[in-house]
Amino acid sequence: MSTVFSRFTLLFITISFVAAHSTSAASLALLHPDELKALEEIASTLGIPKLNLLYVYGDPCYMKKLNIDVANPGSENIIACDCSFNNSRTCHITELRLKTLGLPGKLPPELVKLPYLRVIDLCRNYLSGPIPMEWALMPYLTFISVCANNLTGPLPTGLQNFKNLTFLGLEANQLSGPIPDELGNLTSLTGLILGSNQFTGSLPATLARLVNLEDL
Ligand SMILES: *[C@@H]1O[C@H](CO)[C@@H](O)[C@H](O)[C@H]1NC(C)=O
Ligand SMILES: *[C@@H]1O[C@H](CO)[C@@H](O)[C@H](O)[C@H]1NC(C)=O
Ligand SMILES: *[C@@H]1O[C@H](CO)[C@@H](O)[C@H](O)[C@H]1NC(C)=O
Ligand SMILES: *[C@@H]1O[C@H](CO)[C@@H](O)[C@H](O)[C@H]1NC(C)=O
Repeated sequence: MSTVFSRFTLLFITISFVAAHSTSAASLALLHPDELKALEEIASTLGIPKLNLLYVYGDPCYMKKLNIDVANPGSENIIACDCSFNNSRTCHITELRLKTLGLPGKLPPELVKLPYLRVIDLCRNYLSGPIPMEWALMPYLTFISVCANNLTGPLPTGLQNFKNLTFLGLEANQLSGPIPDELGNLTSLTGLILGSNQFTGSLPATLARLVNLEDL
């Protein structure tokens, strides 16, 4: 009899222990595992040598930043997430602001693996390469700023596929060639910053279609 009782007691204690611990685990909102994996690829393309994604204290949504060493005091390392998924247990990245970090890589096409992303701000690094057309597949993307990097070459006409874009900041790079007429199709734009590049020709007349533009 007493053995049965103690077995029940033990079972009860075990259940309480498991329940208490799963409650504390449930209150933790962490980044979706697919996005955690994507972030390793993104970091590598950006030229970040080692991204520490340690459980909880390396989680970009829990820490609200990337777990990297930052030497420059003027830098910005900010990750914003929407953690309302799966009863507030799963987060998706909505904003990535990695500025003045001396990033030497390329603009990462892999950002498309963060489908809830709204803001890309990678200003003041040494990033090169083209603006990845894959980014146009992100349904919530409204803000792109890649100012003061090492971007070269002409602007692709495909930029007009970024239909929901409200801000495009490309200033202070080494972009060249004509400004494509098709930019006039980005009618949601309120800001378009192109200065300090090596563009040729004049501003296309189609930009007159950008009636919401407050800042050119
Ligand atoms: C909810 O969590 C499951 C298990 O981790 C995951 O497969 C699923 O994608 C999550 N849902 C969302 C919307 O993140
Ligand atoms: C723009 O936003 C609308 C409404 O949020 C969405 O349905 C659509 O897929 C978005 N467009 C693009 C090109 O992603
Ligand atoms: C910028 O791009 C040019 C031309 O591709 C290259 O020569 C230069 O080394 C780059 N600068 C940096 C800081 O990456
Ligand atoms: C975009 O703009 C170009 C040039 O202004 C125009 O010829 C074309 O029809 C437009 N494309 C779309 C899909 O709106």
